[in-house]
Amino acid sequence: MEYNTKILFPNEEGIRAAAELLKKGEVAAIPTETVYGLAANALDREAVKKIFEAKGRPGDNPLIVHISGKPDIYKYAREVPRAAQILAEAFWPGPVTMVMKKADIIPLETSGGLDTVGIRLPAHRAARAIIEACSFPLAAPSANLSGSPSPTKLSHVMTDMNGRIPAAVDGGDCAVGVESTVVCFEGDNDVRILRPGFISKEDIEAVQGIGDVICDRGVTERINEGEQVMSPGMKYRHYSPKAAVTLVEGEAKELAELLDSEDTSVCAMIFDGDEGVFRGKNYITYGYTPEEQARQLFDCLRRMDEEGYEKVYVRAPKRDGVGLAVYNRLLRAAGFEVIRL
Ligand code: TXA
Ligand code: MG
Repeated sequence: MEYNTKILFPNEEGIRAAAELLKKGEVAAIPTETVYGLAANALDREAVKKIFEAKGRPGDNPLIVHISGKPDIYKYAREVPRAAQILAEAFWPGPVTMVMKKADIIPLETSGGLDTVGIRLPAHRAARAIIEACSFPLAAPSANLSGSPSPTKLSHVMTDMNGRIPAAVDGGDCAVGVESTVVCFEGDNDVRILRPGFISKEDIEAVQGIGDVICDRGVTERINEGEQVMSPGMKYRHYSPKAAVTLVEGEAKELAELLDSEDTSVCAMIFDGDEGVFRGKNYITYGYTPEEQARQLFDCLRRMDEEGYEKVYVRAPKRDGVGLAVYNRLLRAAGFEVIRL
């Protein structure tokens, strides 16, 4: 299907227009606080199929169901562990997705064939306003072509989706920049992090009443073909620009020397403050604090393609707090190609 993709604004009229499309079983790109999402009625299997089609996404990768009020978890999850209630109180609305046993009303197309569903209450006002106007929950993966860096600006959405979807709502640049933290539960109290995000392991551990918080192996390790994984998204190469990405652990000076030994069109992605040792070389900075790096990461990866580099060396971020989310995305962008200097 070929569309003339319309840009809507998050005012009353734009929100109504987006909701009208979604009610007709169409898809629309919407802003959230993390990344832009490609939304459709989560309860309508035909609508959900259009998401997979527009993104070129494998059908076994489940979609997150976005709700506009906390009590809705009881409609779409069959069992809500105590820890889920506590996390909803602590972090919702916000960038945490909770995987629970799904209610029958969630079609298998939405859950990627699993008997669980990931549910999230976004903090973004326009996202919530659109869900409310629809009166059904919205399935929404990131609004990029499957495999490419997630979209944190409307221009990213248009690069990937122009002509493939009927409309995109312009919410400006996303405040967080990396996708939500995805968790599941073990027993009533323990939490397993399947995908790190803006809400960090440390943030979750600090919440009263939560038991153990475990980071799934798939967060930092490669999943081999045919291996069972708890979060199917972990299997796929992800977030990759066309340029070959390599993650480099080491000091800025060592990375600058590595660049000298290269003759292809190569660029370094470094921290703010590293510029001194990169004078005369190709580089861009992606921030200094983990929060800045999260916000700028995907835009920087996309810029590598816009500027036509064949190869990118990225200085590996610190791994604590939000840094773990940045590191996790970069590992996948690099297809687990890591150099230790
Ligand atoms: O911040 C976000 O989460 C964004 C915005 C749009 O809300 N959405 C997003 O969706 O990142 P997506 O589809 O790009 O990533 C969802 C991740 C995938 O890795 C998927 O495998 C995992 O969450 N996931 C979803 N439902 C799951 C389930 N039932 N069990 C295990 N993992 C699940
Ligand atoms: Mg995605």
